[in-house]
Formats: sequence, C-alpha cells, structure tokens
Amino acid sequence: MKFKIFLILSVVLCGFLGTIATPIESEKSNDLKSRFAPKSYLFDPLPKLTESANITRYYHLELTVLKLSPDGFERPVWTINGQYPGPLIQAYKGDRLVINVTNNLGDPATIHWHGIFQHNTNWYDGVPGQTQCPIPNRVSFTYNYTLEQSGTYWYHSHFLAQYVDGLLGVLIVHDREDPYLDSYDEEYVITVSDWYHSSSAPLLVQRVAPHYTGFNPYPDAALISGVGQYNCSGAPAGCYCNTNVPPPAYKVQKGKKYRFRIINTSAYATFTFSIDNHPLKVIEVEGTLVKNSSAVKVLPIHVAQRYSVILIADQPVDNYYIRASVIDTCLLPRTNDTINYNSSINHNATGILHYHGAGNNKPKSTAYPFTFPLCQDLNASNIRPLKDNPPPNDVTNYFVFETSFARNDDDVGLLGINNSSFVPIFNNPTNQRIMLQENFTDFDTNQNVYGYDIPNGCVQITLLNNQPANHPFHLHGHAFWIVTQGPGAFLSNISTSAYNLKDPVIRDTTMVPEFSHVVIRYIADNPGVWSFHCHIEWHVEMGLVAQLIERPTEFSNETLPDDVRALCMQYDSYSKNHRRSTFTLPKDAMVKRTRMYREVK
Ligand code: C2O
Repeated sequence: MKFKIFLILSVVLCGFLGTIATPIESEKSNDLKSRFAPKSYLFDPLPKLTESANITRYYHLELTVLKLSPDGFERPVWTINGQYPGPLIQAYKGDRLVINVTNNLGDPATIHWHGIFQHNTNWYDGVPGQTQCPIPNRVSFTYNYTLEQSGTYWYHSHFLAQYVDGLLGVLIVHDREDPYLDSYDEEYVITVSDWYHSSSAPLLVQRVAPHYTGFNPYPDAALISGVGQYNCSGAPAGCYCNTNVPPPAYKVQKGKKYRFRIINTSAYATFTFSIDNHPLKVIEVEGTLVKNSSAVKVLPIHVAQRYSVILIADQPVDNYYIRASVIDTCLLPRTNDTINYNSSINHNATGILHYHGAGNNKPKSTAYPFTFPLCQDLNASNIRPLKDNPPPNDVTNYFVFETSFARNDDDVGLLGINNSSFVPIFNNPTNQRIMLQENFTDFDTNQNVYGYDIPNGCVQITLLNNQPANHPFHLHGHAFWIVTQGPGAFLSNISTSAYNLKDPVIRDTTMVPEFSHVVIRYIADNPGVWSFHCHIEWHVEMGLVAQLIERPTEFSNETLPDDVRALCMQYDSYSKNHRRSTFTLPKDAMVKRTRMYREVK
C-alpha cells in the first residue's frame, strides 16, 4: 500500500504538486511571466572586463519562485533575479565580491560559491549547518570575500536540494596574466544539466522514505545552458508544455577562436559534451590551467565539474550540432520502483554552433563515435597542470573514508562515511561551535567531523568507494592533487608505488567510480570548516558528507562577523514560527519523515 503512494507521488500532476511546492505569495504574479525559457546571457560572448586595477564588485541576487519552462514543460522554478540559470558573476582575480542575497523563496536558503577558497572567510562559504545558518524567507544576507584564484566556477544553493530546482548561476574569475589570453578571441559559457519536472522536495521525501528500495529520481530532461527540448506527448494532461522550444545556439565567426567554459550543474547526471567537426583543446580544469595537450573530441563531465576548452572555428560556414548526452553508465539502474522510472527523457540534448553567414537550416553534421563503458574522469594525460606544482612527499595527516549504505531503524536507506550518515544541524553551524572553543572530538558521531591542526601540513584522504554507485566528490576550500585513483575499494588495492607525486591532476571535484578508490592530497593552508561530499544532490541529502576541521586552534581565535551571528538569531526566530513549506504534502499522501528530516526545525 505504502509502495503505491510513492508511485502516485512520482507522477507530476499539474496544478497539484506544482502548487504545493510553490509559496502562495509568488502564485499571483505567475500569469504575467513568460511561458517560454527567457533569453539567456549564456548565448552571448562574455562581456569583457576592462578595469586595470582590482575593485570591489557589488551584486544583488533576489531569490524567487516563478513558473518557467526551460525544456518546454512548465513548472515552478527557483530563480535568481527571475532567471534560470541565475545571473552571471564575473570578476578579476584579486577583486572583492560583495553579494547581497535577498530571499523571497518562501523557504530558507544559502548560496555556496563552488570552488572558491574563501581564505579567511569560511563563514561566507554558504553551507547551512556547517558554515552559517540558513537565510530565512524575507531576509537579506551579504556575502563578502576576496578572490585569490581564477577560473570557471558556479554558485548554488546548499540548502536541501534547492539547486536542483534552479537556484544556481555562473561565476567566472578572470586573470589579467592568464597565459592563454592570446589563444582565443571570445569566451562563452555553456552549462549542461539534468532537469526534473517535479520540484525536488517531493522527490527528496520519496528518496528517503521508509521502505523505499528504488534508486535516485530519474531526470525528465537534459538541458544545454538552461534550455532543453521535451517531447510533450510524455507530459501529463493539463500541464502547460511546448514541444517547439528553439534549440540553444552559439554564434561563431569563421577564423576566430573561442574559449568555451563548460559547467555541469546537474543533480545527478554525468554528461558527455562535444561539438561536431570541432575537437576541443582543454586549457583549464576547475581553476587550474593545464598543458596544451591533444584535443578531445568528446569530453566527459561529471556533476559539479568544469572545463575550459578552445574551439577553433575553422570548418566550412554552416551549422553544427552541440551535443550534451546523459551517460547511463554513471547512473544507478532505472528499476521500476525508482522514482520517475517512466521518465520520457531524451538523453541527447542538442544545441547549434552557428557560423556567421550560415543559413537557418538544421545541422547535417554527425556525432563523433564514442562509447563510455566506464564512469571515469577525463584521462589525466589531457589535463596535466601547466605550472610545475607537485604535491609534498610527506603527509602530516592521513584519513581513510569509506562510503557506506545502511538502513536505519525506520528502514530508511542512508549513505554515510565510515558508517556514519551526516545530519546537518542548521541552527548551530559547526564553524561557530569551533569558534566558541568547542572541541571537535566532542561532536556527535553524525557530524562526521575530522580535524587536523598542523599549519600548512599536507593532508591525505584515501576514499574507498565500496559500493555499486558512482560518486563525484567535491572538497570545499581547496583544490587537491589526485595522487592515484583506480579500481578496487580496499587499502590492499592501493600501492604507493602507483602514486604520482610529480605532475598529478589538480581539481576540486573528482569522480570516484563504483568499487574504486582515489587518494587525494592538499595543503592545510585555509583554517575553517570545509565540507567534503558527493555532489549528487540525492546522495548529499542521504548523508554522504564529511566536515573537515582545518586548524581549529587558529580558527577558534578568529572573529565571527556580527551579521553572520545575527543571521542565526533571525533563523532561530523564523524556524520557531514557520513550518518548512516545501515539505508540506497533501494529507492523504503524507509519508513518515525520516529521522534526518524530523530533526530539521
Ligand atoms: Cu557545489 Cu558543497 O558544493
């Protein structure tokens, strides 16, 4: 019987779940909004920055829920300044960003700046329960940090699964000294993403419902730069749906060179990315410039990863397909007890590379032949760091993390690290506890804290993924060296003679395939509390998160800005008076909450 309820929930019922998941206030304005995906800045070359000295850049981000139809199918979308993807943030390395976030979602939220080190500003890293309290509805909060790095980044909500509903945007940091500046004339950004027709909240409730035996919710669409094309014959009756969304198009001029910055903003899906007839030279991986190696025809890009590639527009003037394909090799099986298992997704999203002077004909180009038998990162030989930057030989702090899956007393399937599933305490962030001189060794087991205190020591994490699931792991506050990775999830599978301590890949997000291991190293140069987690959003909410307590002795002596402290007071009074609207389900569909969510106030 319970099982039936889940299946009913997994169907999008227009005007039903949509209304439930949308705060009432924003309902009124919806009729006036465009029913089509709005034209996005992503299809124009990046506006060029011109300042010759570092400055402070001010941004205002307003979070609201609007009905949009990125792939033609209309649903409530968590937007930033009315857009999905949210607005472009651009700056130079060395600039300061002052970003005021006003939350009008009807729910709490935070914004995390994915890949930004937040050196000396751990409290602006945007992780609820780890680095700050959530920003309540109708409250503004200002993030304020200096950029000590350059490259391709993004920002997204870190509160529950809000980014899956659209709460994300692009963050590009330029470097006046970038050695590749002369290698391109213009720059574009492309995001690739999976997309769901249901809001994330009911999907999440089902994912962590007692007795659920399926896998992660299966997506409904694949988007290129926030635009997809859905075949509306798969849409439930009564939904607004448009099968004829124009394909996303990028314009190039024959003879010019382009830097494409590609970001996978998915909840779940790995993509392969390619542009017919145009091999791509990778020059950047997540902020690290890489050696100009041979061009890649098909680029695998996992959740939260980024690449910069150079495209040379040297082909006959015409239209060519841009292809972003969801790779089933990296997804869990679509069993028929899986949420949204009957999705009519088109795995292969296409856009158009349009040469100036070409007509409006459909491209006739064909895809590069490609198979993806193993769910792995792009081959290391394509992305060796440009600058000599080897990891230290000597490690000061070793950790071994093993991924685990277990069912709790309520028969809820949870993921964990070393058999412990992480439970956020939204109203008492870890970094504030450290600053109040609490000792991390006294924290509850479910806080998954691991500490180290040696200034500029070398930390090594060995991650053993002894599970039939692929996990793209991301570390906050650092980029790391991938010392070794390979099959086998036992320490005995790893031999130090396989370590690359000469020129290992440096990045901030790496795919750890099923039954495999990775060994990473990084320098403890950033006191604070840094999250380390699988970036598949469903897995985050199932507890696959650790907190790294870096140099607590020093960090506990830092001074918390008043507004960060005040936010916790605002959140406390808000959470006393509000039920969290996204989890209000219709009475007859009410499912027993998991322990994880019962503890959420
Ligand atoms: Cu995009 Cu905790 O990360």
